[in-house]
Amino acid sequence: MPAYAILGAQWGDEGKGKIIDYLSRRADIVARFSGGNNAGHTVINDLGDFSLHLVPCGIFSDGVMNVIGNGVVVDPDVLIEEMETLKQGGIDVSRSLMVSERAHLIMPYHVMLDTLAERERGDFAIGTTGKGIGPAYSDKTSRTGIRAADLLDLEGLRHRLEEVLPFVNRVLTKVYEVDSVSIDYILDKSRMWKDFLGPLIKPVGRYVNEVLDSGGTVVLEGAQGILLDLDHGTYPFVTSSSPTIGGASTGLAIQPKQITNVLGIFKAYNTRVGSGPFPTELFDDVGEGIRTIAKEFGTTTGRARRVGWFDGVLASYSNRINGYTSAVITRLDVLDHLDSLNICVGYKLDGDILDEPPGGVAALEKCSPVYETLDGWDVPTAGISNISELPTNARVYVDRLEELIGCPVDIISTGPHRDHTIMVRDILIS
Ligand code: GDP
Ligand code: IMO
Ligand code: MG
Repeated sequence: MPAYAILGAQWGDEGKGKIIDYLSRRADIVARFSGGNNAGHTVINDLGDFSLHLVPCGIFSDGVMNVIGNGVVVDPDVLIEEMETLKQGGIDVSRSLMVSERAHLIMPYHVMLDTLAERERGDFAIGTTGKGIGPAYSDKTSRTGIRAADLLDLEGLRHRLEEVLPFVNRVLTKVYEVDSVSIDYILDKSRMWKDFLGPLIKPVGRYVNEVLDSGGTVVLEGAQGILLDLDHGTYPFVTSSSPTIGGASTGLAIQPKQITNVLGIFKAYNTRVGSGPFPTELFDDVGEGIRTIAKEFGTTTGRARRVGWFDGVLASYSNRINGYTSAVITRLDVLDHLDSLNICVGYKLDGDILDEPPGGVAALEKCSPVYETLDGWDVPTAGISNISELPTNARVYVDRLEELIGCPVDIISTGPHRDHTIMVRDILIS
């Protein structure tokens, strides 16, 4: 019954896609549990280079069923386009993909409201991806959302829209002073969405449970990262979902006790896209060098990612919230060119040294990192797949990250390709 939760352990973009693709060869199901097409998961394997936003990263592995869980918000246009792009690349998704009937849909007005709200925030903008994520989750919480199951009953959907659209339109026209959205426009789109996606909309919770009960292996695909979590992240500079371990359970309707392995995916340094505090951020040539070498530009929006040293305070906090059974360090090779590296081991705030981030965003902004400096390594790690080939200083660096995170580093990634992976300890069921 093993279920492996793959969680972003920082601010997203840790390399979850690569690790999920790697693990999915031994899985029966890969299931997304949160977020929407704000996610951009890169997979590079023998079939090509892919950026996935909604389709789970198990799609390239034979015999794997890919599930979009109830915790995900689905923009039907984006999902259809992604399926078409994969089909053109020779990957037929339709028979190995399911969408939960309980997943909420991102409607065209959610995308409009996201952009308009960001514009309204001005200097206080969150830097959202503009994909309608916040408004879709807000409607879910306000009980005015539209779910995938609603597409299967278009007459029922019409009644639902008659209930919710008048308010949406009052906000659009009176608050933001833009055009309203008509019911017929949404219903026309819904007819098309139903034709494409209707056969995929299913009661997936039961299916995932049955596979687990019969001894199958399920990979739970996280999106974003813990520091973007609505409760545990750097609020209000967060996303609107729960990328943490709790979200894996509620976002797929599986019992916490069914999750046997919790993998925290950490970049060997830190990055962040969008606004918000980032204590170890680098504003110098070292940061620029990392951004250039690592091509740190967002998979979804193309925005430059902010870059900084590895933050051990946030890493230990991340482990406290999620309780990792394994840590995975990705992008170690990106640091190959450095003569020395800093690791943040504490925060200074008003004369005190903290080992946990303060809850308030203003206090976190005021924290200054306490650094420990380690020597770089002289032999490149890029592409290494055997632990015995890792240069001594790279091993020392990883060992220190392991101590700070507080759980064993079982996988090290040394390049973007599936094969550029060191399995330090085999955690997979054969
Ligand atoms: P995700 O959102 O967590 O799936 O991560 P993204 O795909 O947005 O960003 C991670 C980036 O790092 C992608 O461009 C990956 O191809 C790349 N990547 C993943 N692991 C490694 C690694 O070990 N080394 C290098 N150089 N690149 C990696
Ligand atoms: P993956 O799954 C990195 C960030 C946005 C913004 C904030 C809120 O690829 O790791 P939203 O559109 O969700 O309302 O934006 O969250 N963000 C991500 N940053 N990786 C992601 O996903 C992200 N998804 C959202 O940049 O700061
Ligand atoms: Mg990403």
